Amino acid sequence: MNAGLGTEAVVDRVSQLLHDRIGLRPELSLRGRLRRCIRDDAAARKQDLDAYLDTLLDGDNALQGLLNRVTVQETAFFRHPEHFELLMRDLLAPRDGPLTIWSAGCANGQEAFSLAMLLEELDVDGSVIATDVSTDALLRTEAARYTERELGGLSPERRERHLTPDGGSWLVNRNLRARVRTLRYNLIDPIPTQIRGGQVIFCRNVLIYLSPEHAEAFLARVADAMPAASLFLGAAESIWQLSDRFETVRAGDTFSYRLRPAVVTSGQPTGAGGVATARPAARTRQAASTQYQQTNTGRSLEAEVPVGAFTVGLTSTLESDDDVASALLLSRAGQQASAAGNAQGAVVAFRKCVYLTPSDPLAHLHLGLALETAGDHRYAQRAYAAARHALAQVDPAQVDLAAEGYTTSDLLQLLDAKQHGSRRANSDRQVLTS
Ligand SMILES: C[S@@+](CC[C@H](N)C(=O)[O-])C[C@H]1O[C@@H](n2cnc3c(N)ncnc32)[C@H](O)[C@@H]1O
Repeated sequence: MNAGLGTEAVVDRVSQLLHDRIGLRPELSLRGRLRRCIRDDAAARKQDLDAYLDTLLDGDNALQGLLNRVTVQETAFFRHPEHFELLMRDLLAPRDGPLTIWSAGCANGQEAFSLAMLLEELDVDGSVIATDVSTDALLRTEAARYTERELGGLSPERRERHLTPDGGSWLVNRNLRARVRTLRYNLIDPIPTQIRGGQVIFCRNVLIYLSPEHAEAFLARVADAMPAASLFLGAAESIWQLSDRFETVRAGDTFSYRLRPAVVTSGQPTGAGGVATARPAARTRQAASTQYQQTNTGRSLEAEVPVGAFTVGLTSTLESDDDVASALLLSRAGQQASAAGNAQGAVVAFRKCVYLTPSDPLAHLHLGLALETAGDHRYAQRAYAAARHALAQVDPAQVDLAAEGYTTSDLLQLLDAKQHGSRRANSDRQVLTS
C-alpha cells in the first residue's frame, strides 16, 4: 500500500514498472509525457496517485490502460517510402510459399496496410501480421478506418484503389483487410510462433522507445528465431551498438538489415541460434573467385552445371564487392547444403545469393536447380526464366571467362531443357491431381 509518495516518486515507480514490463526507456525527455498520462489515467479512474499506483501494481488491466496512453502512435502510410521501394526487391524475388511480413509496433495500422497494398499491387501471395503492445492501436488497425488527415502518404491512385469513402472517413477495402492479422505482442517477450515463419520485419520507430538492453535482447531473439528475415528499422535507429549479428543490405541511399551470411556445414546450421555467422572479409572479385574455386570440393547440384562459376565475373557493376563476397559465401553454403541432401537449406542460401547479385544468371540457375530438388517446380521455373533474362544482359565473352568453359549457348540449352522439364513436371502433377 503506497501512501503520501508525492507525484515525482509515483512517476519514478511507474517509470520503473514500464521499463520492466514493456522495456520503456526511463528517459527524461519521456518523463513529462509519462507524468501527464499518469495524472490523466488516475483522474479517469477517480483515484489519487497513491491509490492509482496500487491499482497499477495489482493488475494488468490498469497497466494496459496506461500503456494505451503512454505509447506513441505516430505513423503514416508509406512512411519512409524508400523502405517500400527496397522491399519490392524482396517481393519480386521468386519464393516457395506465401510471404509473411511482420509489422512490429504497427501503431494504428497504416504501416501494415501499406505493406498489404504492395503485396496486392505486385500480386504476391502473402500477408501481414500487425503487432503492438497497445490494444487501442490494435483496435484501430482492425477497424481499418482513417480520417482524411490520416491518409497522408497515399497517392490519389492508391487511395482510389484500396480505400472506400464511408461516412466521413475512409475504409480500407476488404481484400486488403483480409491480408492483415493483428496480434498483441510485447517486444520484450519471446517471438510468437506465428511470427517466426516471417520473411520480412518492419520494426520501425519502436526500438527508440526501448532501453538499450531490451532492444539488444529483442534483436538477439530476432536473429535466433528468424535468421533469414530482412529487417527494416526506423531512419533514426541504429543497430550497431546493439548487435553485431546483422549487416546492411544497401540500395541507393537506403538499406535494410540481414543476418550476416550463415555458414552451413554438413547441411546443418551451426552456432548461436542454429546459425554460425561470418563477417565477409572485404576482397576483390578475383580473390573471391579463387577462394571459391579452391574450396569448392562439395558435389555440385547437377553434374552439368558449372560449379564455382557463381557471381564472379558475371555480376554487373551495380553489385558491390561486399555483396559479391557475401553471395560467394552463400553459394558455398548452398553447395554444401545441397551435397548434404538439405534441399531447403540450399534454396535459402541460393535465394539470398540471387537477392545480393540479381544480375548473375548462374545464381538464378542454381536457385532453380535447388528449388527443383526441393520439389518446387513452379518457382524453379520462375528462377530459370530469371536466369534466362539475366543471361541476355551479359556479354557472351564474359560467360566464357566465368562459366568454366560453358558458353552462353550451352547455358541456354541447359535452361531450355530445365524449363521444358519443369513444365512437364507441372503438367504431370496437374494430370495426377485432376
Ligand atoms: C511511433 S509508433 C511506430 C509505428 C510504425 N512502426 C511506424 O514507423 O510508422 C511506435 C509503436 O510501437 C509500439 N510499442 C512501443 N513499445 C512496444 C513494445 N514494448 N512492444 C510492442 N510495441 C511497442 C507503440 O505502441 C507504437 O504503436
